[in-house]
Amino acid sequence: MEFKIRSYEEQSDRAQVEDLERRCEVGPAESVFLFTDTMGDPICRIRNSPMYKMLVAELDKELVGVIQGSIKLVTVPYKDLAKVGYVLGLRVVPHVRRKGIGSSLVLKLEEWFKSNDVDYAYMATEKENQASVGLFMNKFGYNKFRTPSILVNPVNNHRSFRISSNIEISLVKIDQAESLYRRFMGSTTEFFPNDIDKILRNKLSLGTWVAYFKGDYFGFDDSQTVPNSWAMLSVWNSGEIFKLRLGKAPLYCLLYTKSWGLIDKIFPCLRNMVPSLPDFFRPFGFYFLYGVYHEGPFSGKLVRGLCEFVHNMAAEKKKKDCCKIVVTEVGGRDEELKHHIPHWKLLSTPEDLWCIKALKNNDDDGSKSSSTTSNTSSFLELTKTPTRALFVDPREV
Ligand SMILES: CC(C)(COP(=O)(O)OP(=O)(O)OC[C@H]1O[C@@H](n2cnc3c(N)ncnc32)[C@H](O)[C@@H]1OP(=O)(O)O)[C@@H](O)C(=O)NCCC(=O)NCCS
Repeated sequence: MEFKIRSYEEQSDRAQVEDLERRCEVGPAESVFLFTDTMGDPICRIRNSPMYKMLVAELDKELVGVIQGSIKLVTVPYKDLAKVGYVLGLRVVPHVRRKGIGSSLVLKLEEWFKSNDVDYAYMATEKENQASVGLFMNKFGYNKFRTPSILVNPVNNHRSFRISSNIEISLVKIDQAESLYRRFMGSTTEFFPNDIDKILRNKLSLGTWVAYFKGDYFGFDDSQTVPNSWAMLSVWNSGEIFKLRLGKAPLYCLLYTKSWGLIDKIFPCLRNMVPSLPDFFRPFGFYFLYGVYHEGPFSGKLVRGLCEFVHNMAAEKKKKDCCKIVVTEVGGRDEELKHHIPHWKLLSTPEDLWCIKALKNNDDDGSKSSSTTSNTSSFLELTKTPTRALFVDPREV
């Protein structure tokens, strides 16, 4: 079978890639999962990264496969800065699977990474996705790295959270947000992006907020004094670039949505008492919470306050941003934070499987070498138990 791997061409490939995406549903068949709708721009998920590439597989003039990748500089434990390549959006149409097309796409993307001096390639998948796990872990030697939790909370425009009255929440200027992030997360967080300023200045970033207890002092001047307990997070308006919708939901979920709709109509007074489920089956936007940081006793309560604040903001702007859910991803040392972040188990993923592979052999003279596992194993050795928080880049969601 003769297929060709080449770069994506925006003008001529756009429609075919969108169609391909629709034919390759990702997610376990029997459960609720979220579907992305790129609104006519299949490359939108990586467009905000410093370097990105999309490859397609062509067979008899038909596009049968696609893969995307982005490159950036991040903090990694014991190595300070490393160049990492993120692999995402791998799809092959069902009728030509198991013929090596997926492997060729991965191979070509890894070649692009290597030619750009990338140290580590990484990807995230659902651990139940046998094809993806089989391809990356068994065939390409990627190793399990982290298993952060994706937490999803529906936005309820009938009921806002009442934020604890002893919590102060303030918006911080972008310059200050950058220095707070560099100071507090720069060396303590895995995968902290070196270009955090670009993320904060991106038009999709709606702002950074800090929370602290009333009566405490937070230095918004040059002193940058922080109280004993405080928390911070930023909000990314992902719905601006792509939308989500629920796919293949089991019947009970459909019934649940329908009956809530009914309740809304028949008993309007119940609206304030019951959380009504938004209509997830039509495309909707979402806010992604990134750069969640907290320190000090009771700072979990401050994180909760910030999440509730964002939820209320989303409910207020729901019409404009079409934001029906608030999403965040926490991992590493911050895993326990999930107890403070409002989310629905039904819509959340307890273990998003992140896998990593070394593309360079650090023991050699620095010249580009073929993939080796030695760097990976020493890297994994160093990071076996996550002692640090994990930064989930909103550009990669
Ligand atoms: C994952 C996917 C891209 C694989 O594409 P593909 O062209 O079939 O992959 P390949 O033919 O190159 O398979 C390479 C290896 O991956 C593994 N693999 C592929 N499909 C598999 C499956 N269904 N179950 C278990 N292992 C599988 C095997 O080790 C296979 O080697 P083999 O055929 O010699 O046994 C394809 O199944 C797909 O589009 N799935 C839906 C989208 C998706 O899940 N993407 C991954 C998101 S991270």
